Amino acid sequence: MISLVKELWRTLLFVFSLQFWRMGLLWTFSIAFSHYQLIKNFIFSRKPKPFYRCSPCLVPFRPVAVVTGATSGLGFYTAYELSKEGYVVVLVGRSQQLLLEAERKIKVWNKNAHLKAFQVDLSSVESIINFRKSLQQWLSGSDLHSSIQLLINCAGVLATSPRTTVDGYDQMIGTNYIGAFVLTNLLLPLLESSHVSSRIVNVTSFTHRNGMYN
Ligand SMILES: *[C@@H]1O[C@H](CO)[C@@H](O)[C@H](O)[C@H]1NC(C)=O
Repeated sequence: MISLVKELWRTLLFVFSLQFWRMGLLWTFSIAFSHYQLIKNFIFSRKPKPFYRCSPCLVPFRPVAVVTGATSGLGFYTAYELSKEGYVVVLVGRSQQLLLEAERKIKVWNKNAHLKAFQVDLSSVESIINFRKSLQQWLSGSDLHSSIQLLINCAGVLATSPRTTVDGYDQMIGTNYIGAFVLTNLLLPLLESSHVSSRIVNVTSFTHRNGMYN
């Protein structure tokens, strides 16, 4: 009984907290704004501006983009859009099956897509190290420059129960933060050896602001 009252009290406190309302407002605003943009683009059917990120000056080398979490959601659509811009897209995902599906879907929508999938578990440092090795090997065996131009850290998990990674970290911290950190640092030499300026994009969420102190 006592613990139920405590839970209720905590929930009430949360609902009346600044964090909750700030998040609620931001969320509603960003969803409304992105729908407004979609509708506007639909009505005026404006072609998206070609991005300078993939200018013809890059020929003979095609630019390479590494996208994590590429099998669904933002990662998937990012991979698809980049493939339309002429990027060679390296799809990074946990499941071989989902990677194959994502690859197939993008190929249907854009038959000129240049894709390469790697199965990587971002919650394991060993898996990331192996990925770096295979990526480097693949790059040097291809007709591409041995560098990457874009790294998009999109992968993330929402753990519903406490679990630890093979490296002994909390699953969410290990995958969403440490995984991205290790990957970024291991790929840094490849980003730095790019002959045009390269870029790292971290995709995150503000849901963490709701973290409860237990
Ligand atoms: C993106 O994440 C990497 C790895 O955690 C970090 O080193 C870098 O500073 C982040 N970049 C930005 C703009 O937050």
